[in-house]
Amino acid sequence: MSEFDNGISDNAEIHDEMENISSNKSGNRPFASILEANMSRRKVMVGSAAVAAAGFFAPAATAAWSKSSGTSGDYKNLINFKPVAIADVVDTTMPTISPDYEYDVILPWGTPIEPGATETYEGDPDTRPTSEQQSLQVGIGHDGMWFFPLDQRYSQNYGDRSLLRSDQGVLCINHEFGRNTHVLGKEAPESLEDVRLSQNAHGVSVVRITNTRRGWKARNSNWARRITVNSRVTFSGPAAKSEKLQNPAGNVPLGTVNNCGSGATPWGTYLTCEENFNGYFGSSTLSAEEFAAILELPENEALDRYGFSANGFGYSWHLYDKRFDLTDPDYVNEHRRFGWIVEIDPFDGTQKPVKRTAMGRFKHEAVALAESGSGRIAAYMGDDQRFDYCYKYVSEKPWREALEQGMSPLDEGKLYVARFDEDGTGEWMELTIENPLLADKFATQADLLIDTRIAADILGATPMDRPEWTTIGKEGAVFWTLTNNSRRTEPNAANPQAPNSDGHIIRTVDSDDYLGTTFTWEIILLASDTKGTEGVFTDPDLAYADDAGRLFIGTDGGQPDGLQDQLTVLDTTQETIEPKRLLVGVSSDEVTGFTMTPDRRTAFVNLQHPGNGDPTSTNFPKMFDGKTIPRDATLVIRRKDGGIIGS
Ligand code: FEO
Ligand code: CA
Ligand code: CA
Ligand code: CA
Repeated sequence: MSEFDNGISDNAEIHDEMENISSNKSGNRPFASILEANMSRRKVMVGSAAVAAAGFFAPAATAAWSKSSGTSGDYKNLINFKPVAIADVVDTTMPTISPDYEYDVILPWGTPIEPGATETYEGDPDTRPTSEQQSLQVGIGHDGMWFFPLDQRYSQNYGDRSLLRSDQGVLCINHEFGRNTHVLGKEAPESLEDVRLSQNAHGVSVVRITNTRRGWKARNSNWARRITVNSRVTFSGPAAKSEKLQNPAGNVPLGTVNNCGSGATPWGTYLTCEENFNGYFGSSTLSAEEFAAILELPENEALDRYGFSANGFGYSWHLYDKRFDLTDPDYVNEHRRFGWIVEIDPFDGTQKPVKRTAMGRFKHEAVALAESGSGRIAAYMGDDQRFDYCYKYVSEKPWREALEQGMSPLDEGKLYVARFDEDGTGEWMELTIENPLLADKFATQADLLIDTRIAADILGATPMDRPEWTTIGKEGAVFWTLTNNSRRTEPNAANPQAPNSDGHIIRTVDSDDYLGTTFTWEIILLASDTKGTEGVFTDPDLAYADDAGRLFIGTDGGQPDGLQDQLTVLDTTQETIEPKRLLVGVSSDEVTGFTMTPDRRTAFVNLQHPGNGDPTSTNFPKMFDGKTIPRDATLVIRRKDGGIIGS
């Protein structure tokens, strides 16, 4: 049993523990005997040679929209900063950053952002915001985010991001979750007001920010808004009109929840990913045992596969808000309205967020979009649960053409799930009703998309060790973090450790310029191999690649050697990857969410659930006083010499 199995440090793990076990009973457990073959292959294929072996290089312009193409020519190596040494981490009440870097804290939980908001919550242990105040303030559980330069609003077809402004823009921030003890100061809500406070602490913040002489500040703007589980949303794509998304109550579609990782589109919108949505539902009428019994019924196969239970993760919203009561007959389909990727316009405070059903329904961790030379986009997505899968969506049309026709590139396309074969290749298997295997099970493509996990089970997708973030690297590389899997007993080619206590990172390269149905893959790093070295880290989660070959990894899980969760930087162009520690967070937090300004001189990184809400371990962002409730917040980080982030 590893450190994080105590459920203290890893909050996705806490969420998983509450579900007891993987909900994948498909029996997709291939390749029990290939561990040895893969381990030796991995040693051969480490480094850039493996990418070359894929026989494919993306056009130079590929994915230029998503990252600056700024130069790192001032430096001899990709990574030159002095890393945070293990011995440097002496005080975990505040973050520790490389001596070559500095940080500021912005947008802690409770910062007023919506027009007209005045109240600030500063961590007073004797009060909490009202639900009304919270609906106008930055939420908790800071996770995925993206910086949209101000001038991006004027041009959809802007091309090179590096030409855009780095001093003003809109920051979108996910608020994944805050446990009741942290948000309410008690284990369970006692009223609808308590539930509304909890709900309003979740969701997304859209914040207009400016770099002033006194640092980055939020400023008044009609774009600034909180999006919560009670905000109006719409559905789009093949399942939008499905009766399975309608309730007898006739309630309009509302909200997004458990917004974990993020992504951004080349047309300047934000993508937020609904992950552990199941944890917010429960049953007001059935006991845990009675509910578990009905999950055995064939008609409840999907409820079971998506991990619903009578008590969820303990939020107890269902006791005061019928939408979250799985056994209220008026709201029997509400649960299917979650588990989607949601598109948000950062420059329109009145836009209804759009749930893109063509991208499938599962526990969406994050999404990374690549643009092929033809202008079609590919979106890479993990489903973060033990033994769940890696997915890809490919748009039917080039994105500019689709938009010109009034369509969304995210509504019309193909969805695939990955099979990783032991020879270092793999196949993207299309999830289509035209496949007789799937037509046997589903009546329509909409039904298939709503129960994506079951369709993927049928095709024999490779069960992974909790796919977390995805990110697009250089030369067609896509990186996937597999955070850990304490329950794996049978290894497979792509998940060679059983149990996998520390996680690993995989690089894939697709055929046909991101659009193909085959790929090559390799494990670029097993986190266990970093043990005993200065650069040790485990439980990779956040991933952000720049186009020079740096890979920023944020961790989520108990770290070895007395470390807290950290941000580390890998040079993926090297044969042997030596992690360089840029930042260490505070007690019991998670380092997640990462974005940069176009000039790559400023990065934003989130500290999530500092102290798990316990004021005796940290009072971040306040200096230690042992009393103030710690608050999730965003760090703005810079090199002291103004150089490129990560260099
Ligand atoms: Fe929200 Fe899988 O992390
Ligand atoms: Ca995690
Ligand atoms: Ca998390
Ligand atoms: Ca995560």
